[in-house]
This record gives sequence, structure tokens and C-alpha cells, in this order.
Amino acid sequence: MNTILEQITEAMEKAFEASGYETRFAKVTLSNRPDLCEYQCNGAMAAAKTYHKAPIQIASAVADQLQGNPLFAEVSAVNPGFLNLKLSESFLAGYLNQMQGQERLGCQPVGDGKTVVIDYGGPNVAKPLHVGHLRAAIIGESLKRLYRYNGYTVIGDVHLGDWGLQMGLIIEETRRRHPELPYFDESFSGPYPQDPPFTISDLEEIYPTASARSKEDPEFAQAAHNATVRLQQGQPGYQALFRHILSVSIADLKKNYARLQVSFDVWKGESDAQPYIPAMIQSMKDQGLLHESQGALVVDVQEETDTKEIPPCIVQKSDGASLYATTDLATLVEREKLYHPDEVLYVVDKRQSLHFTQVFRTARKAGIIRPETKLTFLGFGTMNGKDGKPFKTREGGVMRLEHLISDINQAVCQRILENREISQEEAEAISQVIGLAALKYGDLSNQATKDYVFDVERFTSFEGNTGPYILYTMVRIKSILARYQAEGGAESHTLREAQSPSEKDLQLLLARANDSIAAACAEQAPHRLCQYVYEVSNAFNKFYHETKILGEEDAARQQGWIALLGLALKVLEDCIDLLGFQAPDKM
Ligand code: ARG
Repeated sequence: MNTILEQITEAMEKAFEASGYETRFAKVTLSNRPDLCEYQCNGAMAAAKTYHKAPIQIASAVADQLQGNPLFAEVSAVNPGFLNLKLSESFLAGYLNQMQGQERLGCQPVGDGKTVVIDYGGPNVAKPLHVGHLRAAIIGESLKRLYRYNGYTVIGDVHLGDWGLQMGLIIEETRRRHPELPYFDESFSGPYPQDPPFTISDLEEIYPTASARSKEDPEFAQAAHNATVRLQQGQPGYQALFRHILSVSIADLKKNYARLQVSFDVWKGESDAQPYIPAMIQSMKDQGLLHESQGALVVDVQEETDTKEIPPCIVQKSDGASLYATTDLATLVEREKLYHPDEVLYVVDKRQSLHFTQVFRTARKAGIIRPETKLTFLGFGTMNGKDGKPFKTREGGVMRLEHLISDINQAVCQRILENREISQEEAEAISQVIGLAALKYGDLSNQATKDYVFDVERFTSFEGNTGPYILYTMVRIKSILARYQAEGGAESHTLREAQSPSEKDLQLLLARANDSIAAACAEQAPHRLCQYVYEVSNAFNKFYHETKILGEEDAARQQGWIALLGLALKVLEDCIDLLGFQAPDKM
């Protein structure tokens, strides 16, 4: 289904053409003076230069063409040459009735036949998830859902950090504690034990201990480094231990992501790229792209148009070990082979921007991906505390994600208990749903690239531009619909012409649902969708306060409103699902 803007634009184009002007001037936009009109066209101003006429003359001719057009209640040409538009109530209601019957609110499947890989996890195995991973998960999950809604085939990849020094550190620390284990016995010929020699809590203690030890004890640090290299070279005992670290960690990570309602289609990691590295490096050598620099193999990626220095991309260290860039490049080799993607989108902390510039340029130079494949880095800003510094615990440590979530849920629970008669149990259950909305909306309502302040107080407020406010609005709609039904109200699916300015405002907003969703996807900008959802909520609440819906005596009128509420709820439900959370039935 065409968006309402497309339908209006089409009418405008016909009017320009009929008046003797080119259709390229007929661009219609949302009004930036909502007090004067709903949509506007400023094309007469541009056309004036081409046709050497006064803009108002052109605007007036076009407006004349549109008089009596069933789309518009009012078309006026205003000095110096604006075309101000108000939609007719019947066209608007008709559009909404049509939208109601469409799948996905009439969004066009622009992504049909296209594949996108989204890389939005990046947790490091054996280290707990912390707030740094929160934004990637929240933003990436929303983008995944937006892309799917718009018809794309999406592969969400967690891309575990499982190939770095932390593996060597854990291996060496485990050896120190249990040298008798078969993983360290060079003459052991297997099979290695099925059960891991540690639990997740052990691992969470082992890693920081080992990391601290490596800073004080150079011999230990060297051993951990060697263990990492040997693991990467395929030493069987280390490989077996590595698989244990991986399985214990992944089980725990899955639990944590599930709590956030974030999921991945594939659980691959840096280590999966390993088999592709030798051939990739060979091919770079064959193409003459590699040269040696202090023993390491590097690719030059500086371009003439760069205004700052972009250092070469190091693909192999002097001891033969691979680095972060190596695994990212080899992962692209694998992604190209497995999925043949049209786009690979990385949702990662913006401080890694240089790394991705180097990786993308190297991948293009080496022909790892097809020239038409888009490589996108969506670098997000930092989540700060109220002091404006990166968010920490009260004690100043790194905040674990699960603690952050329970802090939010508790704050929500507190508010519910203060405001309502409700059992502790029920309040706690609802708080989980609302807490997630508070957390995700608090994050997503900011432009991803910007830093933002994590403010529990504000995020959990039931008023203002917050997740709980959106849910509160939806629960209000649900409860009206439930009461209407309980009172024996007839099923109704037909919206009627708006009868008040507040009803029309709500209808105008709902008519933009498909456009807003498509724009949020095209611009990779969930905050645009938050803005839309907030406007719909405000418009609904205004309408609600001015309209006695359940008390209305005219049944036909009432049914029109019930249909309007049904559509408003559907729009909000689809949108918040795209943001990654849901509304409860009560709150
Ligand atoms: N593991 C990395 C980190 O914690 C993030 C990985 C992001 N994705 C990627 N393909 N490099 O910093």
C-alpha cells in the first residue's frame, strides 16, 4: 500500500502537471506549521526560478487545480508561494480503514530478496555481560526487528569475543590450580572429560584473578600469551578446554540475553573465523597487498582524501598470532561464503570506529566482499552516569548487566506499590515487563551515536517521554476496549470521519505509521520510532481526555471510536515490538 504521503504527492504531481509545471516540483512534506496546515508543498518557490514567474502565481494555479479534489478539505496558496494542505476527513478515515486490513500496517516489503547480517553482540567469553554490551544488544535487536518487518532476511550474529588473550589467561590460571588435569598432559591422547572443570561462577572469578596476576607476574603473562598462540594453532588439550569455557559461558550469556528479550540467529564467534585465516592471508599476499612492518604483516589503507592519518591494518603479528582485525576480516570471508549478504551492519561502541575503517577498507581492497555489499558501522555513544562519566556501580566498579536490570525493576516496583493497591507479587511480575520497557526506551529514544545519561528516576517515570508512559497509554486503551466488550459492545472495524481536532490529529498520526517504520529502518534510527510512538501516545491521551467514549449514546459513533482505538493499539503494539518490548494488560 502506498503511504499517505505518496498518495498526496501523486495528487500534487497531477496538479503541477495540469498547470503546466514539471512534477519534480511537487514534493509534499509534513507541515512544519501544524497550526496552519497538515501537509505542505514548497515547490512553487523552486519552480518560480525555472519558469520566471512569481511563486504565488504558480502556487495559486496549482491550488486551483486541487479545488474539489476528494483528498483535501482545504488547499490554499499563501504568500510568498506556499501550498498549505488539510486532508479531507473522509479520505483520512478511508486510508486508515484500508491500512487496518493490511499486513504490517501497509509497510512495503522494500527488503524483499535482500540479506543483512547484523553484528550486535560482541560479549567476551568468560567475562560477565556489563553495561558496555547493553547498547549493542538493545539497538541491534531493534534494528533486526525493523529490517525483518520491512521484508529483509536478517541474520543476527552474536559474534562472541572468544579468541583473545582472555582464553590464554584462563587456560594458564586453570593449569596453576589443577596441573593434574589431562588438558595439560602433552602425552594424553584423549578422549577429554565431558564435564567442564569449572562452573560459570568459577570462570567469573578465574578471569579477573588471572588478569590481575598477569599484570604483576611477567612470567605468567608470557605463559598466557603462549597458551593463546598454541590454542590458536590447534593444540588439542587447549582446544578441549576452550570448548568447555565456551559452552559454560554461552549457557550463561543466553540466559542474560533472554532476560533482555534479545536473541541471535547464530552464535558464532571470532574463533569460527580461524579456518579462513590462512587462505585469506595467502590471497592478500598473492595480490601484493601485504608488507612487513616491524615483523608484522600490514595492509595500507590510507586514502588520498583522508584528512587524518589512518594507520595500516595489521593482519598478523610478528609471532604469527592473529588480531582483532584478522578475525573480523576472516569473519567477513565466512559471512560472504555462507550468506552472500547485501549489507553487513556492525552495532558497536563508536570508540571502535578506526578499527572498522581499517577492516572495511582492507576487505574492499582484498576483494573479500563484493563491491556492491554495504559495510556499515553504527557506532553508538557511551551510557553515562548522572555525573557525566561512563556508568559505574556505586562502588565505582563495572556494572553488571543483571544488577542494572534488577535496579530498574526495583525502582518500577516501588512506584507501582506507592500508587496502587496491589500485591507485592503482582507488582514484581509487572515490574519486569515495565522495567524492560523503561530500560530499552530510555536507551533507544536517544540518537544511537550520542552519549546519554542513564537516569533510573527519569526512565521509570510514568510521565514524559518514557517507556512506562507509552505502556501506560496502551494499558489505558486495552482497558477501554475490554470494558466496551464486557458491556456487550458490538465488534467494529470501521473508523469514521474525525469529528474533533484531537480525533483528527490522532488519525493523522496513525496514518503515518508505515512511513515512520520504514524511515526508522532506512535511517537505522530506532529513536525516530520512539519519537513517533511518543507523539501517538500524546495524541491518544488528548483525544481520550476530550471524548466520552464508553458513555457515547450514538452507537455508530461509538463503534467508529472503538475501531480507532483498536488501530491505535495495533500501531503502538507493532512499534514497541520493533523497539523490543511489550505492554502488560494492566499496570
Ligand atoms: N568483543 C568486542 C568488544 O567487547 C566487540 C565485538 C564487536 N563486533 C565485531 N565484529 N568486532 O569490544
